Amino acid sequence: MASCTILFLYHGLLSLLLFFLSSTSIIAAATASSSSAGIRLGLIRKPSSDVPAFREAPAFRNGDSCGTEIVHITMTLDANYLRGTTAAVLSILQHSACPENIEFHFLWGRSEPEVFSKINSTFPYLQFRFHRFDSNRVRGKISKSIRQALDQPLNYARIYLADILPQNVKRIIYLDSDLVVVDDIARLWEVDLKGKVLGAPEYCHANFTKYFTELFWSNPVWVRTFQGRKPCYFNTGVMVVDVEMWRHGGYMQKVEFWMGVQKHKRIYNLGSLPPFLLVLAGNIKAVDHRWNQHGLGGDNIEGKCRNLHPGPISLLHWSGKGKPWLRLDSRKPCSVDYLWAPYDLYRSSSTHSLE
Ligand SMILES: *[C@@H]1O[C@H](CO)[C@@H](O)[C@H](O)[C@H]1NC(C)=O
Ligand SMILES: *[C@@H]1O[C@H](CO)[C@@H](O)[C@H](O)[C@H]1NC(C)=O
Repeated sequence: MASCTILFLYHGLLSLLLFFLSSTSIIAAATASSSSAGIRLGLIRKPSSDVPAFREAPAFRNGDSCGTEIVHITMTLDANYLRGTTAAVLSILQHSACPENIEFHFLWGRSEPEVFSKINSTFPYLQFRFHRFDSNRVRGKISKSIRQALDQPLNYARIYLADILPQNVKRIIYLDSDLVVVDDIARLWEVDLKGKVLGAPEYCHANFTKYFTELFWSNPVWVRTFQGRKPCYFNTGVMVVDVEMWRHGGYMQKVEFWMGVQKHKRIYNLGSLPPFLLVLAGNIKAVDHRWNQHGLGGDNIEGKCRNLHPGPISLLHWSGKGKPWLRLDSRKPCSVDYLWAPYDLYRSSSTHSLE
């Protein structure tokens, strides 16, 4: 435990150092791309010619004591978040004692051949598969949330994992694309779910009321869903899921049910998170908080800078509006963004031409 904290602190210092060493090229990159790359990244559709270029990640090899068990990780994949995805993958490999035992499952909603080949060329040694998420599955089920980015169909793919992933995948770690892992992911993989369908850090001190509207709380039939459990907030960006139990327990249908309610009555304001809370809050396996230091992107409206919470950290998550690559490119980074920068494989055209 303590060694991880020290490791993390070391990484923090290292990243700060790296930032100062490379700040000139970062500034050059930001200037060169000015309003093009930096701003266009936020758009929903962008021409495939804008797919960023990345450095090739090194080969990561297993240590001597590695067994044969495969760690399955799933993440969504699209051009907008590609820079986040590549940083997340690199961070996972770098901190893993058995990186060759990790298999990535990338879920895509729109065929973007350039994005697929970028994964190929950036990680030539990676074990991965691409799986199509048919966005028709959520067509007509998504309600407008307070942040447009949350309304992307691919955000809802996590509900359908049990149908999308191959049959041999019995357990999956679902990860958002705006995070980095600074610990061995095998430790999260090995958590004992104690018969629960889902494991995630749980936050019982957060005000649970505010995730739902007054309309919801005033309806005794709806509120009864929480009967017999003490609902606590959890973040759906980092989850360990028992895939078979998800399938057999009909959890997909349960989450879809609440999306259907939301379509007609506004019972919450966020995207795919609240229906998960309605079905599972208070009935998950609580995982150590170190596995999701979330909110580093600030709130959903302004994306203000946030500091780290005290305690050991295994995973840093830029949930909220601000994304580290955009803030770094715009030369208005928050201090926590320097912790993301060392995993950035992005190669801007200007640094390219300097080589
Ligand atoms: C990725 O690389 C493999 C092996 O080199 C190749 O067979 C496959 O077609 C490539 N896929 C894409 C999308 O480039
Ligand atoms: C929790 O949030 C609700 C709704 O915003 C508010 O009415 C309530 O006072 C809050 N409770 C606490 C303990 O802060």
